[in-house]
Amino acid sequence: MKVIHLSVECFPVAKVGGLADVVGALPKYQRELGVDASVIMPFFNRKFTQENEFDVVAVGEFYQGSALLSYELLKERNDVLGFPLYLVKIPNLLDREEIYSYQDEADQWIAFQHAVLHYIQNNNISPDVLHCHDHHVGLIPFLTKWSNDFQSLKNVKTVFTVHNGQYQGWMSWSKGIIIPAFDTWKWGLLDWDGLINPLATAIKCCDAYTTVSEGYLKELYVEANGLQNLFFDERDKSVGIVNGIDTTYWDPAIDPLIDHHYSILSVDDGKADNKLKFCKEFGLDPTLPLLSYIGRFATEKGADILPELIENLLKQSSGKISIFILGSGDAEIQQRIQAVASSYNKDLAVFFGYNEQLAHRVYASSDLLIMPSRVEPCGLNQLYALKYGTIPVVRKIGGLKDTVIDVEEGGYGFLFDDVDAEEAAGTVSRAVKYLSYADNLTKTRDTAMALDYSWNKSAKKYIELYNQLV
Ligand code: GLC
Repeated sequence: MKVIHLSVECFPVAKVGGLADVVGALPKYQRELGVDASVIMPFFNRKFTQENEFDVVAVGEFYQGSALLSYELLKERNDVLGFPLYLVKIPNLLDREEIYSYQDEADQWIAFQHAVLHYIQNNNISPDVLHCHDHHVGLIPFLTKWSNDFQSLKNVKTVFTVHNGQYQGWMSWSKGIIIPAFDTWKWGLLDWDGLINPLATAIKCCDAYTTVSEGYLKELYVEANGLQNLFFDERDKSVGIVNGIDTTYWDPAIDPLIDHHYSILSVDDGKADNKLKFCKEFGLDPTLPLLSYIGRFATEKGADILPELIENLLKQSSGKISIFILGSGDAEIQQRIQAVASSYNKDLAVFFGYNEQLAHRVYASSDLLIMPSRVEPCGLNQLYALKYGTIPVVRKIGGLKDTVIDVEEGGYGFLFDDVDAEEAAGTVSRAVKYLSYADNLTKTRDTAMALDYSWNKSAKKYIELYNQLV
């Protein structure tokens, strides 16, 4: 079984969010199970591509509208990721530093998809399955079936995974002329409400679609930023498969990015040692429970309630808790967090930006992790937290609801219903109180750390799906 994963993010090559973590891990676990899995992604001029070696394994050219584009297909030489990694390089289009945020993003992703199919068709690659991740590669299931340029790929099966249904890749119909030639009778497959909508196209055309948790799949049938009816109508080819975590990077017993290693047997001392060093560095009191937030500042993640939530906690508990925030994103949210940080600098520390090592240290040092998400397709942070014995306090939604069970139901976390600062703060206080009893703390940490959220189970489920299709 030959499977090629297509994505614009892949850890550690280029990461903005959880999409990268999944695409950087799943192929490795699938290879261990005997599947010939690889990744093709765009070339970015970043640390990973500068520090590693690549061979040009193919070149080609095609017209994108009236522009003749040439591409190079680069293969990473030393198998540093545990699976073959290919990058598509196109001068002035796919050779930039940032992953997102360019004005001509639609042109970039159309060129990427065109180059991928051109390469596959012209080099006898013959995959059984093209596994597409998120809307950036949402035209692939359409093009393999209906593009006159890729007739030989008609029988290749396509699986599409929705990591985030909020973003759909909308583009105006003026872009229609740069999409590879297609059967014009099929234009409706590209359209949703007068725009080209790559996410909708993918759901209509793929052989199967998956979501990154079962809970999120059910939510998409009801509310999906306008596509709920489509997700519901196509439900017969849908399946929810929860994400796993890559324990080669995420395991406190071997993690090279944390200060002190620990396992389930040494969790109390291990976390205390990490916390002591961390709190010293950030001017926090290590004797207080430490609550952290890690993630993008986006309303989707509920980050807009953080300022009020923090104030509420720091006021209410009058110095009984410390808080650490690591993230970046929406400028207004960041300013509001900064304002709170200025008035509570003894109990609250912040780091604005993306910092992979710091994230590992935060999981190792914190007692609690807060995730007040409005939408959470799976969420990986709660899974990392559990692995590090950090107890998640999460909103009851999507993948969070599927992976965290409240202590009141015999579980190992704390859940709340609404994206509401007061309710979230109340749940944090409930957690602090509960875990202040040594027995509770030991039991909860041990249960959390003993859970198996590695990729083994989920990687198998994807393979079962491929087998059903091929
Ligand atoms: C997106 C989702 C997140 C999920 C990740 C990986 O970032 O927001 O919930 O865990 O993709 O699938």
